[in-house]
Order: sequence, then C-alpha cells, then structure tokens
Amino acid sequence: MATFTARMAPLLVVGLALCLSGTWAVDKGNFKTCEQSAFCKRQRALKPGESPYRALLETMELTNTRLTLQLINDNNKVRLLLELYRLQGNITRVKINELKPLKPRYEVPDVLIREPTTEPLSVLSQDENGVVLSLGVESQRVIISARPFRLDIMEGSDVLMSLNSRGLLAFEHLRMRKDTFSYKVTSTVASVWDNIKRVFSSQADPEAEKKEEADPANQAETTKEEEEKVEDGMWEETFKSHTDSKPNGPSAVSLDFSLPGVEHVYGIPEHADTLRLKTTDNGDPYRLYNLDVFQYELYNPMALYGSVPVMVAHSPQRTTGIFWLNAAETWVDISSNTAGKTVFGKMLDYVQGSSETPQTDVRWISESGIIDVFIMLGPTPKDVFSQYASLTGTQSFPPLASLGYHQCRWNYNDQEDVKSVDAGFDEHDIPYDFIWLDIEHTDGKRYFTWDPHKFATPKEMLQGLMDKKRKMVAIVDPHIKVDSNYKIHNEIRSLGFYVKNKDGGDYEGWCWPGSASYPDFTRADMRAWWASMFAYDQYEGTMENLHTWNDMNEPSVFNGPEVTMHKDAMHGSWEHRDIHNLYGLYVQMATAEGLIQRSGGVERPFVLTRAFFAGSQRIGAVWTGDNAAEWDHLKISIPMCLSMGLVGISFCGADIGGFFKSPSTELLVRWYQAGAYQPFYRAHAHLDTPRREPWLFGPENTALIREAVRQRYTFLPYWYQLFYRAHVTGEPVMR
Ligand code: GLC
Repeated sequence: MATFTARMAPLLVVGLALCLSGTWAVDKGNFKTCEQSAFCKRQRALKPGESPYRALLETMELTNTRLTLQLINDNNKVRLLLELYRLQGNITRVKINELKPLKPRYEVPDVLIREPTTEPLSVLSQDENGVVLSLGVESQRVIISARPFRLDIMEGSDVLMSLNSRGLLAFEHLRMRKDTFSYKVTSTVASVWDNIKRVFSSQADPEAEKKEEADPANQAETTKEEEEKVEDGMWEETFKSHTDSKPNGPSAVSLDFSLPGVEHVYGIPEHADTLRLKTTDNGDPYRLYNLDVFQYELYNPMALYGSVPVMVAHSPQRTTGIFWLNAAETWVDISSNTAGKTVFGKMLDYVQGSSETPQTDVRWISESGIIDVFIMLGPTPKDVFSQYASLTGTQSFPPLASLGYHQCRWNYNDQEDVKSVDAGFDEHDIPYDFIWLDIEHTDGKRYFTWDPHKFATPKEMLQGLMDKKRKMVAIVDPHIKVDSNYKIHNEIRSLGFYVKNKDGGDYEGWCWPGSASYPDFTRADMRAWWASMFAYDQYEGTMENLHTWNDMNEPSVFNGPEVTMHKDAMHGSWEHRDIHNLYGLYVQMATAEGLIQRSGGVERPFVLTRAFFAGSQRIGAVWTGDNAAEWDHLKISIPMCLSMGLVGISFCGADIGGFFKSPSTELLVRWYQAGAYQPFYRAHAHLDTPRREPWLFGPENTALIREAVRQRYTFLPYWYQLFYRAHVTGEPVMR
C-alpha cells in the first residue's frame, strides 16, 4: 500500500493475526452502550408510569386535514405542539415539536418523496377527557386522551396501536445553559434572552403567546425550570478521548408505542441479528447510528453502517408499521409480555383460558430533532410495503447487468491483473458482468484519479471490457485527501463545501488517504457540484461502462469518536448530530445523480453504498460491509438482507466468501450457492487474504461455483421481474 494511515496499522496487524489465529471480536470499547450515551441513559432512566404530559383540549384546532393541539408538561410547564394528519393510503402522521423552541429543531428533508397527501379528519365526539376523531376509513378512530396525554388508534373495538400509553413521551426542550446564565439576572444577557424568545415565539404563534402570558400555569415556568437538574452529559460529554461540546444542550425526544396482539416485530436495520427482533429488557436497545464497525459481532443490537428507522409489527390478524423520521442517533427498546414464555407456557395459558393478549411495547429515543412518526396501518404486509413506499419511494429499478455476478477484491493490482481475471472467467466458462476496483486503483487515495503506473490507460482497460459487454465499478469514497496539489480538494475548499468543525474551519479527520476533509453532502449545491465531477471530461479515463461504489460514507473517520464524525461538526447551521444518519444517503444520491447526468439522463445508474437511511432504496444497492469468512456470517447475511427488504431496501447482498479471513473451500462454494439467491451477488475479499477467484480451488469446486453462478443467470429474468415489482409496488425482492 502506498499510504499508511492511523487506522491501517491495527487493521493490518489484527487482520493478519486474525487470518492466523481465527479470533474475531469487535472492540466494544470503541462504541457506546446506552449507559455511555448521555441522552440514552437519561431517557432510559424514565420508567413507565403516569405521563407528565397533558393535552390542552381548549387549544385544539382542526382544519379540514390538520389537527393541532398543545401538550403541556406539568413538571416544567413547557408546551409542545402536536400535529396529527390522516394521509392517503391508511397512514396516520403524528408530529410533536416544541411549541416555541429557542431555535428551530431539525426536520429531516429529502427523505419523503413528496409532501404526503392529506385526507379529511373529523371530530366524532369531544368532552373534557378527550377527543375522538374519525380517520375516514371503515371504523377507524383516533382517541386523544387529555390527562395524561395518550393517543389510541382503534378499528372497531380493537386497539391497533397506542402512543404514550406507558407515559414515556419525553421532549427535552432547548434551553439556556444554567451555569452561565440565570433567569433572575436583570443584565443585558437577560434582555437578549427575552428578545430571542420573542422573535421565535412571534414567528411560531403570536396568538399562543398572548394566551400563554395570560395562563397562570406559566407564571411558575421560570421557578420550576430553574429547579431542573443539570445532569452530567447534558452540556458536554466525553467518550474515550473525545469531548462533544453540545452547545445546544439536551435535546432528546422519546415516545412509546404499544402494539396489542403483536408478538413479533421486524425491521430497524442495520443489525447483525435475527430477522425477528428480540426484546431488549436485559441488554441494550437496538441502536441506529451509522458506524464503521471493525469486526462486527453477530447477534447483538449494536449499530452498523446503515439505519432505517422503520419497524414492522406482524400478527396473524394484522401487519402495521412505524416510521420514525429522525436522522439523529436513535435507540429502540422492545419489550413483550410473552417474552420468556415457553411454547408450553403459552399452551397452558390457552388451555386455562387466560385472557392475556400478547403485546409488544416499543420505545424510540433520538438525540435531537423532532418527533415525526408515520403509523402505517396495513392491514396486510403488502399494504405496509406500499404505504411506506408512498412516503419514501421504491427500490430503483437496477440495470439488468447489475443483477448478474460481480467479481471484486481489495485490490486487483493493475490493468494486467484485471485482464487476466477477466480472461479467467471466459476460460472457465463462468458468466460474470462486473469487475471491481477498490481504493488502490487511485493515485494515492485521491478519488476520481487513477494510479499513473498501475492503471495508466484506463480507457483501454474499459474498452477491453466493453468489447465483451462487461462493466467495471471503481470506488469513490467521500473523504477527500487534504492536498493542495489535488484538484478536487482545492475546488471543494475554495467553494466552501467542506463540513466545518465547531470553530468554523474545515473539518479534518483521518481516513484512507491520511488527513482528509468531508464534503457537506447535505448541501444541494455541493451535491450538484459532486455530480458534475462524474462527467466524462472531468473524471478522466472513464467511459459509460464504469460505475461507482461509495464506501466509508457513515462517514468513517478513523480518529473520530466511535470512528465517525464529531457531533458538533457543522453542516451550515445544523450540527452533525442532527443529520448523522443521512450523510451516507446524500453521498450515494449525489453520485447516482452524477452517473445519470453523464449519460444525458438516459441511463439507470448503478451505485453501491455502505451507509444508508430511509429512502436509500430509491438510489441503488447496499451491502452488509466487512463480514468474515465464517459460517455464521454466511448465515446472518440472510436475516440481514431480509430485514432490509422489509423496509424497502431490496438490493442487498453480503461479501461472498467473507471479507476478512480466508474461507474454507466448502464455505466458499456454499456462499456462492446461497449468494446466487440473494439480490446483490458480489464476491469480495480483504487486501491481506489469499486470492480466491472461482477457479483456484480445483476443477470440482470450479464446477460447483460455475453451476451456482449459472443458476443465478438462469433466473436473471425472474430477478429482473422481481425488481420491477419491487420498483412498482415496494414489495421486497428477497422473501
Ligand atoms: C472498507 C470496505 C471494504 C473495502 C475497504 C477498502 O473496509 O468495507 O469493502 O474493501 O474499505 O476500500
């Protein structure tokens, strides 16, 4: 390797040691548990009980399709604004924000394909205890109870889902820091504070402000608030050597959902776990925080590279879904009254006529942003898929060839190597469509360039492949080498497109090239610029059969907290904290746009990504990252891809053969056979592993692999049709 970086040292040493010793373990100390994540710890400390929130029914306003209502927290008198919508296709949307936040709170853009179409709502009855609304569909109603606030969605006499029934709604309002400011001081600071409050409150709702001033309950606000405890980690949090400065203080949101009649819940990828989600009472919640996890462990709820905050609840009677639209670090707790009951216990309940219905309770906790939740009411699984698709879109319809077999490794050394591997497929009569180049093909990890010696004539190489109707994928990662002789870096810097650190300078971290900065992909102008870099006259040496792989887009920052970006880095006026789980989606979006544009808008692009979010299905393919050449890793690839399919992302696969370590011949063959029946079919291997092209294991095994790959090709029209259906209806391809 040309460049030696901070993270490669342990990676290479451990990688090599692994190959020899066979040990495999994630360094758990690098990643936070809920206990070590201040907001998660705070929120999880709240136990089910009476909610402090009350619905102020007198504030209810109903236009044709929008209901708003204030909620008040009786402990601190802070008010929230609840909005409720009925959306086309049997979806209910509930939004909760602060009525008058000190400054705007982040609302996730670019994930919904359009502003959802609302449908009429009407009040069926109302008294001092609550309101009953008709959802317009059959006998569906929403009951809003006032004291304490809770929301029940009913059909006939069945409760489909309840919100805040366990009283775990929590909304940490933005506030001024107490140790630097007191409400009682009559200094200039205090009047600045008043002005800030006024500006925001008048923007929010002048009428409400008048009402609030008149409300005696609010007189107590200041005193009560001052009594609120300032806990560790609210204004600053240190993990290992990293301190998160948290200039906005605590801002977490949380809400519980009860699902009567439901024993099984699914979704919320990405986790290396079973398809059916487990209860989390005796361990950590499932975590959604896009992270580059070295040597990830199986069967646990730790976060991985991508996040889709969507859960599917399924029972023989009904399937429903919860889409929690929030891009900040999120934790999901699951508990169930049937957990731990044996089949015998359940039968006994049945025989004894025990009337306890199974119920699953879930609770979502996010570090910042607002509560914006879409409740998809099914009733069938297909209905839930199309409901979710109506919000975030369907799987992009892939180019046919990308459903064939892909040959990858880190790295094919040079053009000669590419040529001989390509010839190997012909010689052994194994069909394939794509050959891949990893980071070593670049000029010193400067993406959009080619190593001048090893890949001196890329067009010649691409033309050679094109003559056989074959294609290539080259990697383009989002970390940009800080190097004043690198055109891409100079342009991004001079355009001011880099993510900023908390002090306003360009954010810098370590990744493959050494010191690197990270383009701010949340900016539409940055994405447009990035897309333009894929034009044939910009990205030299490229042709129409070159496609793209976006890796490390969590983003991975080797020397950052939990191997990612500091949460107090800035994307314009938003903190990285707010947008973290969206970064990867934006990288893939900008890249795919580049490939579309370079073709004059006529070709469907192929872009693989490691990080993803809700909506990534619209863009391209994902893979399950750095797995290992172990049977358990082959096994887990199935539930991992099934889970993604349930939440829209159909184009999923795992590294065939396992990325780290070296597979036994039997494992490799079996992996080719299983992978042939998974949507994205690519062999990949770590730099330090021995070569493993399909013909290196003796004629018998070559024949078995040939047979598996040919089966894949036999079914190609079927795959194409399944993808077309996924594209049109949102149904998962892998079932
Ligand atoms: C990451 C990717 C892996 C790739 C390597 C080098 O570890 O997950 O697939 O080969 O980086 O680019």
